[in-house]
Amino acid sequence: MRSVKLNYQGVLNFISKDEINSYKEKTEEALQKLITKTGLGNEYLGWLNYSNTITDEEIDRINQVSDKIKQNSDVLVVIGIGGSYLGAKAALSILRDYYPTQNGIEVIFFGNSFSSNYAYEVLRYLEHKEFSVNVISKSGTTTETAVAFRIIRSILHKKYGSKAKERIYVVTDEYKGALRKLANKEGYVSFSLPNDVGGRYSVLTSVGLLPMAVNGIDIKKVIQGAKDAQNYLINAPFWENDALLYAAIRNIFHQNYRKDIEVLASFEPNFTCFGEWWKQLFGESEGKHHKGLFPTTLVYSTDLHSIGQYIQDGKRNIIETIISFDKVKYDIPIPYEKDNLDELNYLSDFTLSKVNEIAREATIMAHIDGEVPVMEVQVAHLDEYTFGYLVYFFMLSAAVSGYLLGVNPFNQEGVEDYKRNMFALLNKPGYEELKRKLEARLYEKDNN
Ligand code: PA5
Repeated sequence: MRSVKLNYQGVLNFISKDEINSYKEKTEEALQKLITKTGLGNEYLGWLNYSNTITDEEIDRINQVSDKIKQNSDVLVVIGIGGSYLGAKAALSILRDYYPTQNGIEVIFFGNSFSSNYAYEVLRYLEHKEFSVNVISKSGTTTETAVAFRIIRSILHKKYGSKAKERIYVVTDEYKGALRKLANKEGYVSFSLPNDVGGRYSVLTSVGLLPMAVNGIDIKKVIQGAKDAQNYLINAPFWENDALLYAAIRNIFHQNYRKDIEVLASFEPNFTCFGEWWKQLFGESEGKHHKGLFPTTLVYSTDLHSIGQYIQDGKRNIIETIISFDKVKYDIPIPYEKDNLDELNYLSDFTLSKVNEIAREATIMAHIDGEVPVMEVQVAHLDEYTFGYLVYFFMLSAAVSGYLLGVNPFNQEGVEDYKRNMFALLNKPGYEELKRKLEARLYEKDNN
């Protein structure tokens, strides 16, 4: 089943089908490297087949834990950063209403920064609520997550005493990391992450599935979408394989046409968080050895009134990918008014979604005329199933695209640099030498 389609008409003004075809062989080879586990980072390929191997028992366990949380809590606080929260946040904002009317408790996110302002407000918000905590960290050592968990733990203990631990749900590695040690020692309910699934490829494991289930999302349908995506995209030939075509085309522009930036845009505001997830997936997978398209995201038509000017007419180093849907969830008519003082009666034959659709078509044509190659990722309609499909589609594309670029799409060594500096400046044992060097630099800066 092909639930997500890549429409690449909007790039054919800039590159030919022959040029795309010239990437066919190497793109297929990149896919084969993933399947046969012979490429860079092959110890992190658990996600490739995860949806086909997750058992009904595991899904049932997630649903049971989620039922318990729903019974005794108004709010679930999800503590995690990067791949340990962005996917769940994306799912919740896309699949639930802006102002919810459905069942499912509120899920809020914490531990994704060191902001004391944000932390203070979270604690104040929780003061009069019944809440549980889902702390997620693959490594079990991430500082933002660990600090937030320590803060919340003390609040939980004050509020619930010895029953506090019944409100803590841990997702982490089966054996490694401080969080695993803590969970085992305190006897928290926990889920083990497969060690061959990296953070940004983990949304379809308990990392994303538990918060989704708590928020009322049918996780079996999410998994089914990912399964069908896998079954189709692993087997489809190049010219019918949307993930391979997407990976190939973005590499052609980056490698042969000096395009530096890829904008992922949508005409639905609830796609903002999905954009954040996508940004991490591609940015952390490809941005290394001074290579890679810089991934950024926009929401239209909102951003057409701000950064839209740059997209249309600024430096021509951009490609654009637009996610579009054939069907909307809700629609409303534009009313006719007898007096027509606002001169909008010409729109009263349209619904609001039709106007949005036409805005999209108009934008795509304008951007192509402004020399921005545009691809469209077309989704029939948005639900749990297509969310799972879309996530798998992008994860597979990112992995293939990383191989085409010649990088390891599954590591993120660059992320460690700021951490080392921060640990040294915060007096973490073992960083004394670096601390001396950094403090000398700070001293110089302050005295210049
Ligand atoms: O993709 C990755 O592995 C990272 O971006 C992680 O998701 C992020 O750093 C959080 O790590 P952890 O889940 O170990 O706390």
